[in-house]
Amino acid sequence: ELYNFRQLGADTKVHGVIGKPIGHSKSPHLYNAAFKSVNFNGIYLPLLVDNVANFINAYSNPDFVGYSYTIPHKEDGLRCCDEVDPIAKAIGAISCMIRRPNDGKLMGYNVDYLGAIGAIEEALRGSNGTPATASPLAGKLFVVIGAGGAGKALAYGGYEKGARVVVANRSFDKAKELASKVGGKAITLAELEDFHPEEGMILANTTSVGMKPNTDQTPLAKKALSHYSLVFDAIYTPKWTRLLKEAQECGATVVFGTEMFINQAFVQFERFTGLPAPKQLIRDTLVKVT
Ligand code: ATR
Repeated sequence: ELYNFRQLGADTKVHGVIGKPIGHSKSPHLYNAAFKSVNFNGIYLPLLVDNVANFINAYSNPDFVGYSYTIPHKEDGLRCCDEVDPIAKAIGAISCMIRRPNDGKLMGYNVDYLGAIGAIEEALRGSNGTPATASPLAGKLFVVIGAGGAGKALAYGGYEKGARVVVANRSFDKAKELASKVGGKAITLAELEDFHPEEGMILANTTSVGMKPNTDQTPLAKKALSHYSLVFDAIYTPKWTRLLKEAQECGATVVFGTEMFINQAFVQFERFTGLPAPKQLIRDTLVKVT
């Protein structure tokens, strides 16, 4: 049960996740449970949206206070903001939009970057004991597959942490554009198959290849995975994508999309409500609904 209508009142704050498709999203389960647990008078809806600008114009009522953005609308979402956080601007995509209470202006943020990079750093620290002051990504060869909103977030995040970034994308022009912004190298998906200038590289998939229902697909063939020490997949349905299963079979540390999602959920919850996130409840709810 996501919410019930008896719960809706004149002061209920409306939130939602904007995407297409949206049926697979676990966000409504998470945020509704989290809102309830801290007695926050809000609801959170799955919003199947074709055109973000039309949606934002139609739902300009001040009770519509916060949105999360997912595939394929993170870039369109940015164009609908009144003001955009500098990191989101550099990335060129938002993951979260909040209506500022005093003047109703729509503020855009990108917290993909915090969630994903944080999860990768945590896993790297766990495996090699890097002191907490230095980023364990510093100096590493960091390969990002995809150059959409999530790809940009990961590439900028890696760049900021001192990694040497490589962007591989189906549309090579987009790979080149992103790579040039992060002082990195662009390669094609075909080149990625044979790309191993060194061992112990880090891989992040940000494309939808392997997402339910296409769980037999993978963005990189298994034979290439032995050159990576850590593989992250932004997909969280299913938790074990084919990429992560094969990476584990090749001996790599795997980082689940759920970790990125959980870290983002903490940050977004705090921005939506102004309250500290009920972290354990959010983790437990995610386990229950996946
Ligand atoms: P997000 O904001 O979640 O990153 P997006 O902006 O739609 O979503 O980006 C999707 C990414 O997945 C893109 O890099 C896209 O490649 P193109 O730039 O060539 O479109 C990639 N992608 C999606 N489907 C793909 C497929 N079947 N094979 C390879 N790459 C794919």
